[in-house]
Amino acid sequence: MSWNPGSWRHRPAAQLPAYPDPAALGRVEARLGASAPLVCVADILHLQAQLAHVSSGRAFLLQGGDCAESFAEFGSDKVRMTFNLLLLMGALLRARSGREIVHLARIAGQFAKPRSSDTETADGVTLPSYRGDAVNAPAFDVASRTPDPRRLLDAHRQAQVTIELLKAYAAAAYADLPTIRRAVGDDEAGRPVAMFTSHEALLLNYEQALTRFDEVSERWWAMSGHMIWLGDRTRQLDGAHVEYASGVANPVGLKCGPSLGADEMLRLIDRLDPDNKPGRLVLIGRFGAAHVRRHLPALMRATRREGRTAIWSIDPMHGNTRSLRGYKTRLLPDIVAETAAFVEVAEAENVHAGGIHLEMTGADVTECLGGSLPMSEADLPRRYLTHCDPRLNQTQALDIAAEVAGLIGRRTLITSDAA
Ligand code: PEP
Ligand code: CO
Repeated sequence: MSWNPGSWRHRPAAQLPAYPDPAALGRVEARLGASAPLVCVADILHLQAQLAHVSSGRAFLLQGGDCAESFAEFGSDKVRMTFNLLLLMGALLRARSGREIVHLARIAGQFAKPRSSDTETADGVTLPSYRGDAVNAPAFDVASRTPDPRRLLDAHRQAQVTIELLKAYAAAAYADLPTIRRAVGDDEAGRPVAMFTSHEALLLNYEQALTRFDEVSERWWAMSGHMIWLGDRTRQLDGAHVEYASGVANPVGLKCGPSLGADEMLRLIDRLDPDNKPGRLVLIGRFGAAHVRRHLPALMRATRREGRTAIWSIDPMHGNTRSLRGYKTRLLPDIVAETAAFVEVAEAENVHAGGIHLEMTGADVTECLGGSLPMSEADLPRRYLTHCDPRLNQTQALDIAAEVAGLIGRRTLITSDAA
């Protein structure tokens, strides 16, 4: 059967909420289907062109933001802090690595989470798991945990406002950028900055309703964000999520975890990027510091051998989650170790280390441990605000940016020395 925005419905779909009222879901889908697109094709093409530079090694992809966006914590300040942090990290990376930076926020659609269990049990009561604000609410009671499709409309509205704010900040940053760049030792004159949006394409009812056909390109596009990605739990070759992503023309990310073998990865690449188009596909490794050297070389060797232009990026967050004093946390030394291994393996396999994917916030949280400011296990409860995974705070995110700049800067030098 040929692809259409709803062809995923004929495939097994993992991780979708069980909505108790399908008619209410249908009404929400109709409203979303009649709404204005959140992004435009020209901007998606702009991202694709920038990603093509990442594919050839001239640019580096910086992708980051919250694990999950929240309705309660939304505000223009929060968006501005994420925007500014990405810009600052980008300036630092650019100054020290000499590469152009592609700024891609995990924002304006990152409202849904895959879960390892469909239900959660506490004190003998079993309820649906919290799946992100676009699905249900975190409080442990029946009303909060029942999936409510009207939340998709709230997510859409928040995404729309977020994108408007990002555009306004990008226009303002045109004036501020030289100052930011000078602060990190980059004296290039001001140029417009592009801040793109991305999220995991998990809720396919939402994605389908925001899919539009463009007469000029004669292609279907996901208008929910500039880039979408497939999570490690929804990348089944014959599954609904791969089916959906295979038919939209946007740049697509694919999370690659320890259970993905080289053959399966190549089959996924064939499905998602059959034309081997530079800037179409971003492979996002997420193995954990202890496992990355065992899994990544064979995968990189396979893309290299097959002449694939897909970008390799690293998510050093999701394979490095651990529990300390009852808190889910991540240690900066693990994050740095996985990133350093990624860069080294890339170099050994003659592949570009193309990008990094981080969970982070501009807020002063105490969710991850380590970095240039002293922080210990005892600090975790102080400002542990995430409903989902632990995020880097501003200082830690800048620490990681500095580490990455050192790692890829050295590699750039080695490459140019050899040339
Ligand atoms: C995520 O990026 O928030 C996530 C759930 O990642 P993964 O699919 O790699 O587990
Ligand atoms: Co996460």
